Amino acid sequence: MPTARTAASPPAFLGDLARSIDDRLAGFVSSRDLPGPLRRAVEHALLGGGKRLRPILTLLSAQAVGGSPARAEPAALAVELVHAFSLVHDDLPALDNDDLRRGRPTLHRAHGEAMAILTGDLMLGLAVEALVTDAPDDALAGRLVAELISGVNAMIVGQADDTLGVRAGGGSDAERLESIHRQKTGALIRAACRMGAIAGSGGTAQAALPAVTRYAEAVGLMFQIVDDLLDVEQTTEHLGKSAGKDADAGKLTYPVVHGVEASRDAVARLRAEALSACEALGPSAGRLAEVCEFLAVRTR
Ligand code: IPE
Ligand code: IPE
Ligand code: MG
Ligand code: MG
Ligand code: MG
Repeated sequence: MPTARTAASPPAFLGDLARSIDDRLAGFVSSRDLPGPLRRAVEHALLGGGKRLRPILTLLSAQAVGGSPARAEPAALAVELVHAFSLVHDDLPALDNDDLRRGRPTLHRAHGEAMAILTGDLMLGLAVEALVTDAPDDALAGRLVAELISGVNAMIVGQADDTLGVRAGGGSDAERLESIHRQKTGALIRAACRMGAIAGSGGTAQAALPAVTRYAEAVGLMFQIVDDLLDVEQTTEHLGKSAGKDADAGKLTYPVVHGVEASRDAVARLRAEALSACEALGPSAGRLAEVCEFLAVRTR
């Protein structure tokens, strides 16, 4: 049994932001007109558990470009709805076949496979609704939807390659692995940050977008490398999801392709890249930098 690494303590503001996102998500779901069984399934998948890191990145990206986090709230909800959808489908028997998620039975274990498929589909639609309902400006809403959907599409391509090996063309395992990780996980994190910058600034923070994107791409890849490492190094109990499954399932992961030490080196390089993007953004990106530091050492 692997021993759990000492838990790195997260910055205090993360807990406050996560709780406020929890409240907003619960309020959004309760405002939707849904039949009871679907409502309960959405609540199981979305509420109660989850670190809320993507919506937190959305809010902090708004702040980093000198915008208003409050204006980025709809985008924050949308990105977490998409993320929750991706987890429900990722856990299905036809994909990763997992029984445990966020310390509880996966949705298909608790509510059946058909309900899990449909609830995932529904959360994608709810995400777009969260993003555009009450949007102050149609042009801005269109830009945000385009960002979100390009993240979703890349995520699905990455999931398809991870599950079925659908990528056209050759390339080494290392190249394919990086591309899978940038797509299945990085693309939604990229969308989370860019949407925060765009929504929070009312679309005016064009000059800051390249640095926000550089941050997001580095943190996005780093996030999945750390996830691969945690699968090897942590326990199921600590993670609240099944540990030690990737190698058994024949997944292409950083520890499998590069080894644990080189994977840690990659995390350090990506952390430095993200922090240099924060420096370019200036003091308003201080919290983005703190989140990056935490994500490099997180243990769950
Ligand atoms: C897990 O994401 C899936 C990946 C893309 C690695 P998180 O580690 O953010 O999961 P929750 O939302 O906190 O449960
Ligand atoms: C998930 O990657 C990426 C998604 C788009 C959900 P994993 O399959 O490694 O995520 P976990 O480990 O099940 O959370
Ligand atoms: Mg998977
Ligand atoms: Mg999985
Ligand atoms: Mg994983």
